[in-house]
Amino acid sequence: MRDVTKDNITEVFMGYVGNDVNPRLREVIGSLVKHLHAFAKDISLTHAEWEQGIDFLERVGDISDSERHEFVLLSDVLGLSSLVDMLHNTPDGTSSSVLGPFHIQGAPALEIGGDMKQDFNGTVMLVEGVVKDTEGNLIEGATVDIWQTAPNGLYSSQDPDQNTYSFHGLQTTGFDGRYSFTSAKPVEYPVPTDGPVGEILNGLGRHPMRPSHLHYIVKADGYKSLVTEIFAEGDTYLDQDTVFGVREDLVMTYKDMPADSFPDGYALSGKVDQAYVRVDFDLVLVKS
Ligand code: BEZ
Ligand code: FE
Repeated sequence: MRDVTKDNITEVFMGYVGNDVNPRLREVIGSLVKHLHAFAKDISLTHAEWEQGIDFLERVGDISDSERHEFVLLSDVLGLSSLVDMLHNTPDGTSSSVLGPFHIQGAPALEIGGDMKQDFNGTVMLVEGVVKDTEGNLIEGATVDIWQTAPNGLYSSQDPDQNTYSFHGLQTTGFDGRYSFTSAKPVEYPVPTDGPVGEILNGLGRHPMRPSHLHYIVKADGYKSLVTEIFAEGDTYLDQDTVFGVREDLVMTYKDMPADSFPDGYALSGKVDQAYVRVDFDLVLVKS
C-alpha cells in the first residue's frame, strides 16, 4: 500500500493483519490501534510529545523489576486496573478491587484468631467474618490471604525494619466458614511517587494517597478467586483513592470497643489493655 493517508491508515493497518490469526488477538490489537490513531488525531500529537511518551514508557520499563511493577502502577493510577475489575465483577459476590504491587507469595499460616500486629505500634484491630457463597452457604477450607502496611504506612518490602512477612498472613476457614484475626488498624498511605508515574501524578496536580485498607485474596475450590480490599467509613481519601479502588460494599465500619470487651479465642485475648476497633466483614464468593 503506497497511498497511505491519515484518513485510511487505521483501515490499512487492519488490511495488513493475516487471515489465519487468533481472532481475539485481531480484535484486541485492532481496537487498540483504532483508539491510538483516534487519540493521536484528537490531540494532534506532535513529534516532541510522541518522543516524550516513548521516553516515559522506556523509563517505566527501566525502573521495573520483580519487586517494582511500575507498569501496574501506571495502569492503576490511570484507572485501567479498576476498570478491568469492574468489567468482570459479578454483582452477587463481594466486589473485587485492585491487587496492587505489594502482595507476596508464601505468607505464613495465620491461625484462626491469630495476630499480625505483634509488637508494632498502632491501635489493635480485630477482624472477623465468614466466607460464604451467594446463597449464604458457609465455605469450609477457603484460604484468606491478608496483607496491609505497618502503622508507618509501609509494606514489609519497603521497610527494612519489618520482616519479609510482617503484616502478611494466610488463614484457612474452618467448618463454620469463619476467619478472624487481629492486626494494627490500617493507615492511609501514598503509592510510590519516586518513579515516572509520580511525574504524571505531579503533572496532573493529583495527590498519591490511598485510603486506609486491608487487602484480601480469597480462594476456595469450585469458586472464582476474589482479589479485594476493605476500606474504613470516614476515611479522608475514601472519595479520592488515587487508584480508584473503593466500592460501596467494601466500605466497613470500625467499631470502637472498650478493652474489657475483648473476646476469648484470640491470640491477644487477655492481653489487650486499651480500646480497640472491631470490623465485621463477610466475604461472598461466586461459583466458578
Ligand atoms: C496498594 O494498595 O497496595 C496499591 C495499589 C495500587 C498501587 C499501589 C499500591
Ligand atoms: Fe495497599
